[in-house]
Amino acid sequence: MNPLRRLMRSPRVVRTGYAVARRLPIGSDAALRLGRTMWRRSAGATPRSADDPDIPSRHTPATTPRDIDRHWPSPPQVAEPGRAVASAAPATPHAPAFDIDLMEQLHAEYLSHPLVPVPPGRTAPERAERARARLLDVHREIDLADKRVLEIGCGAGYEVWYLSHHFGADATGLDIIERAAWQELADERTHYVLGDLTTTRLFDDDAFDRIISFAVWEHVAHPSTALAETFRVLRPGGLAWIKANLHRGPMASHLYADIAFPYPHLLFTDDVIREFMRRHDRPAQGASWVNRLSWADYEARIRALGFRIKALRFTGQPIDEDFYRRFESVLGRYPRSDLSRDFFEVVVEKPA
Ligand SMILES: C[S@@+](CC[C@H](N)C(=O)[O-])C[C@H]1O[C@@H](n2cnc3c(N)ncnc32)[C@H](O)[C@@H]1O
Repeated sequence: MNPLRRLMRSPRVVRTGYAVARRLPIGSDAALRLGRTMWRRSAGATPRSADDPDIPSRHTPATTPRDIDRHWPSPPQVAEPGRAVASAAPATPHAPAFDIDLMEQLHAEYLSHPLVPVPPGRTAPERAERARARLLDVHREIDLADKRVLEIGCGAGYEVWYLSHHFGADATGLDIIERAAWQELADERTHYVLGDLTTTRLFDDDAFDRIISFAVWEHVAHPSTALAETFRVLRPGGLAWIKANLHRGPMASHLYADIAFPYPHLLFTDDVIREFMRRHDRPAQGASWVNRLSWADYEARIRALGFRIKALRFTGQPIDEDFYRRFESVLGRYPRSDLSRDFFEVVVEKPA
């Protein structure tokens, strides 16, 4: 840290500066304003513009507001201005303890109508069937035939194989974990690459006509870098089709095959979730590996990179109102629209 920045971060320097400015017989407000501006500049805390270039950082009214007299009147002296005298806030009802007992209780309550009644299968035929259905959907929107296609986070890799064997594509699957199926599925038009999109420059600029990705971005530790790499390796005029799970949705814990009620990851710590999984003879994992971006975060990054959003939709389910009311003290921290969005599906274009 440079010496000026270090000095401006010293609590003694900042407190002394404030005390001196406050005691000035004249120009005290102006000195405080100047001090704050200097502090922000030297600390690197100056306001930044929004990611959207169409939104200016300050609004200029059509007519200039009238001048405000700089001689402020003095309000009446109050000894303890912030002391509460009365409150209209609703009394907090008996707050539940978010512990393993509550988690067991909620799970038992929802077992007869679990959040996801039939979780997706993971056998080879089930994966292959899901790959065919997905590709037909995606092809209808972005035309995969005879294209150079990259699938980011391809997992077992059946989509990649169908792309080259049924759509005439030159198909590449990328994942940070190599899967057993790759060796069997790979051939001259079906490529699998082991690597991390966000740490290594794996592909040339403009290398692909199409990029697709299913349920991956929520697992990516550096999602903004992954979007930037997607932009770089897509050719101008190329299209990307991305589906990803949103952190505030009811299913985002990814543990819906084992936990029957919604939003366990928003209500319980990873320690409690791990304890629950252990008790139910499941792998003792928490939910914290899901990144916490909302759609608004993704959209800001997508637009800032220069992508054009060609289509967007959300899948999810209506909020379970009884559940929401019971846990409003926690769920009420989030916009309601986010609480009903499980996945986004977006089609973006890199301008030609
Ligand atoms: C939930 S799985 C989805 C796999 C597959 N797309 C599917 O729908 O079955 C998420 C995948 O993303 C991969 N992944 C996570 N971070 C990644 C990164 N930075 N680069 C490439 N793949 C990544 C994981 O290894 C995992 O295979």
